[in-house]
Amino acid sequence: MSAFLVTGGAGFIGSNFVRHLVEHTDHTVTVLDKLTYAGNRASIDDLPAERVSLVVGDVADAAVVGPLVRDHDVVVHYAAESHNDNSLNDPSPFVQTNLVGTYVLLEAVREHGTRYHHISTDEVYGDLELDDPARFTEETPYNPSSPYSSTKAGSDLLVRAWARSFGVPATISNCSNNYGPYQHVEKFIPRQITNVLDGGRPKLYGAGLNVRDWIHADDHSSAVLRIIEAGRLGETYLIGADGEVDNKTVVEMVLRLCGQPADAYDHVTDRAGHDLRYAIDSTKLRDELGWAPQFGDFEAGLATTIDWYRDHQEWWRPQKSGVEAMYAAQGQ
Ligand code: NAD
Ligand code: TYD
Repeated sequence: MSAFLVTGGAGFIGSNFVRHLVEHTDHTVTVLDKLTYAGNRASIDDLPAERVSLVVGDVADAAVVGPLVRDHDVVVHYAAESHNDNSLNDPSPFVQTNLVGTYVLLEAVREHGTRYHHISTDEVYGDLELDDPARFTEETPYNPSSPYSSTKAGSDLLVRAWARSFGVPATISNCSNNYGPYQHVEKFIPRQITNVLDGGRPKLYGAGLNVRDWIHADDHSSAVLRIIEAGRLGETYLIGADGEVDNKTVVEMVLRLCGQPADAYDHVTDRAGHDLRYAIDSTKLRDELGWAPQFGDFEAGLATTIDWYRDHQEWWRPQKSGVEAMYAAQGQ
């Protein structure tokens, strides 16, 4: 049994990881989360208090981070500003949390020799052409497009440097787009599901031909746990579940699964600098560590996600009108 410190554990993927640890291990978990607009106590407050506790604080605050890192065996760093559209409107919190926050954590981990796992995204690699047969691998050069992806890329490079120069016992994972329960309604899939549940229409940026490589958040969690248990220190592992789908097809699936006509959506203003396609080759993770995703069928996973949003309206309704007002103000 180990003591895990999970930063950003009240956010979407972090809270799914905390649930995964409670269900599949006997580790204890301290969540360090600033509870920004994206963090939600309600995402973890049903979990047993003897296994999971929450510290409200900032990963960029060395006075908070130091003692927590000292008192835990493993740090898993999910906390970040995570939404591309927000990063285009105001990059400043992205620089502060994603870069400075990671630096502060790494310095604490260096001081205490703590095992560190860094959560990152495939967006650090930039994008691929729609007709390119290539997928991202661990050797693909970094080429980020947005303030979000560039600050995540910078944070990965800090981890690589701290591992090489200071011997910090670190691993990094870069995962593709996640879907599942507890995702904020600002993001693509929950926004469209909750629009339909609200009697409104899905909003597709531009022509909707952009491709994302979808993975269920629980598959992301099992991969991260496997890397922490068996990954080689200093290494990067790409996480993906062969889930490439274009945005228009996702919207049509949501509508069909909700019993609506498949063309009942609106085209809205495209995102500036919109990445065309992401695609992950996760051969290294699968061959070296024997990991495989459990949610093989994207449409089935989407159907259970729709059910979750239908059954948990109290979780998302408080955020919905503010998010839609923000999008409407920018023509989206
Ligand atoms: P999210 O926005 O849902 O959650 C982020 C969490 O971090 C929130 O609980 C927030 O309160 C917390 N946080 C923000 N700033 C903080 C700070 N300064 N100190 C402490 N806590 C802070 O994001 P998510 O989608 O769950 O993403 C989590 C991680 O996974 C991020 O590092 C992201 O880059 C990475 N990732 C996300 C995806 C995806 O599809 N969403 C894919 C690959 C990787
Ligand atoms: P998003 O969930 O923001 O994730 P990311 O930017 O990290 O890929 O968006 C996923 C895709 O969906 C992306 O191509 C942008 C698009 N999108 C829409 O078409 N409509 C929307 O309302 C949103 C939020 C995103």
